[in-house]
Amino acid sequence: MCKPVLAFGMAKNPNVDDAYAMSSPEEVKALYRTWSHSYDVVFSDSQGYQLPRKVAAAFVGAGGMGPVLDVGAGTGLVGGLLRRMNIKDIDGIDLSEDMLCIARMKGDYRGLYAGDVTQPLELIDAPYMGVVSAGTFTLGHVGPDALGHLLNIAASGAVFVISVNAAHYVSAGFEAALAEFGDRITGLTIRDVRIYDDRADEKHGNDRALLLVFRKASPDEHAV
Ligand SMILES: C[S@@+](CC[C@H](N)C(=O)[O-])C[C@H]1O[C@@H](n2cnc3c(N)ncnc32)[C@H](O)[C@@H]1O
Repeated sequence: MCKPVLAFGMAKNPNVDDAYAMSSPEEVKALYRTWSHSYDVVFSDSQGYQLPRKVAAAFVGAGGMGPVLDVGAGTGLVGGLLRRMNIKDIDGIDLSEDMLCIARMKGDYRGLYAGDVTQPLELIDAPYMGVVSAGTFTLGHVGPDALGHLLNIAASGAVFVISVNAAHYVSAGFEAALAEFGDRITGLTIRDVRIYDDRADEKHGNDRALLLVFRKASPDEHAV
């Protein structure tokens, strides 16, 4: 069982603004310790959170297959959708043990790992044929540096579908970082999508994300 916790200093359910204001892994863990139990219903359902569905659909649409790593898997919304789309061997990684506890109870993942994707990764089931992420490359969370670590644990040809909050894309320098990857990635497309549907509150109803879809290039492509 996952124990509900009300973290010190947090007298209400966390919200998107709390999440955007995070500035350290410790703060992120404390936030999601409190948020994990209400996240699916009070946040995702009531705000009409659409990114997991859009990321999963883009992954399947790009020909993605398992084994696939869900980055910032949280309570497992992306993994649940991928499994229903017949994707096999779905692993997840997340900083928050409390979020992973909720995901684990749903039974959609092959493996769930606690870890920080801003650090070099060692995962026993790497290399992955796919890497997906919804809502994790966002303000107060994960910046472009993590993409290098994820490329290191992906197989040549692996399909990546990564959502990046549109405001974060600019402020965190994703454009320059992607350019620096040069021939390590191939076929990059960027799609501008709404994060929520019309159930969202007025403040965040028009928040947008960029869906980055690309493949890890093979060594042959590097050489060309
Ligand atoms: C907004 S939630 C998104 C969860 C899930 N992907 C979804 O769409 O519902 C962001 C998640 O990123 C995780 N996270 C934040 N920083 C991280 C890091 N450095 N490494 C791994 N996970 C991180 C948080 O713990 C949280 O579960």
